Amino acid sequence: MAGAQRIGILTSGGDAPGMNPAIRAVVRAAVEQHITCIGIRRGYAGLINGDVFELTGSDVDGISRRGGTILYTARSEEFRTDEGVKKAAKVCKYLGIDGIIAIGGDGTFRGALELARQGIRVVGIPATIDNDMGCTEYTIGFDTACNTAMEAIDKLRDTGQSHDRVSVVEVMGRNAGHLALYTGIAAGASAVLIPEKEIDLEQDVIDVIRRGCIHGRRHHIIVVAEGVGYVNSYAKEIEKQTGLETRVTVLGYIQRGGAPSGRDRVSASMMGVRAVNVLCGEDEESRVIVARNGRFEDMPIEEALQMERKLDEEMYAACYRINTSYHAGRK
Ligand code: F6P
Repeated sequence: MAGAQRIGILTSGGDAPGMNPAIRAVVRAAVEQHITCIGIRRGYAGLINGDVFELTGSDVDGISRRGGTILYTARSEEFRTDEGVKKAAKVCKYLGIDGIIAIGGDGTFRGALELARQGIRVVGIPATIDNDMGCTEYTIGFDTACNTAMEAIDKLRDTGQSHDRVSVVEVMGRNAGHLALYTGIAAGASAVLIPEKEIDLEQDVIDVIRRGCIHGRRHHIIVVAEGVGYVNSYAKEIEKQTGLETRVTVLGYIQRGGAPSGRDRVSASMMGVRAVNVLCGEDEESRVIVARNGRFEDMPIEEALQMERKLDEEMYAACYRINTSYHAGRK
């Protein structure tokens, strides 16, 4: 691919704040090297349908501060089939696209690998609010989503405090608890329930609330990762066991929207530039951009997909200690 003249760019899967600054960085870095950038609408579905247009440097003016993705996104059923992937590869060849930059999460990277197996070189940029990819310490969108959830929980605390209520808040994250854990610490939750850890409602939640009540604290925030489920039945049990009125709030899709944070804009920009360098470099391999020890690197896509995302045990332990020691030392 050295000397690529025409590259495609797409966003796929769930949108994440920061996809736009990533698109901007890719387009600007490509144009600077006289490479034509082809925008592909609605991810792999748009690729199959040939829904493409040329992106110029000025088309991406001012998009960094916008949430969502100007390229739209989709989860394509057709692309999950062999025929779909072959069709997409054929479209790439027909359009003269030398390689593709695919921005998204795990599903997007798996799609990219399939495309690579059909002879289309792909570079992946990790973007999902879940931060659940094994290959990278950071995925674009996570910081903004944490801030959005934290601000929403701060508001829930105001009303919960006024009414002496327990607020049980469901946070997104698919099967992972990273978003819930991070948000729970940031918002000062009394307990954080995540799918990676066994849940003992009595010990982890009810006991903490009861001890709080003894010392006059009658409002609590309980963060539950969506991967845990049972949010309504947990809330009922908490109300029954503690006698405190309990309300459930599912934060839902507000966590995916909004202007990207500074961290997401910068990470997206750095990853975008690196993706163009990798795609236009000498190496013919399909790769992904990853964050490691606070720096951006790249690695083979196949290897990246085999890596398992581990929970930050130190963070979990810190969260647990902060919660359980709330009343320690009080008379
Ligand atoms: O992966 C991002 C995410 O928002 C998850 O947190 C959530 O489980 C899922 O996407 C929701 O997917 P959809 O947009 O298809 O409803």
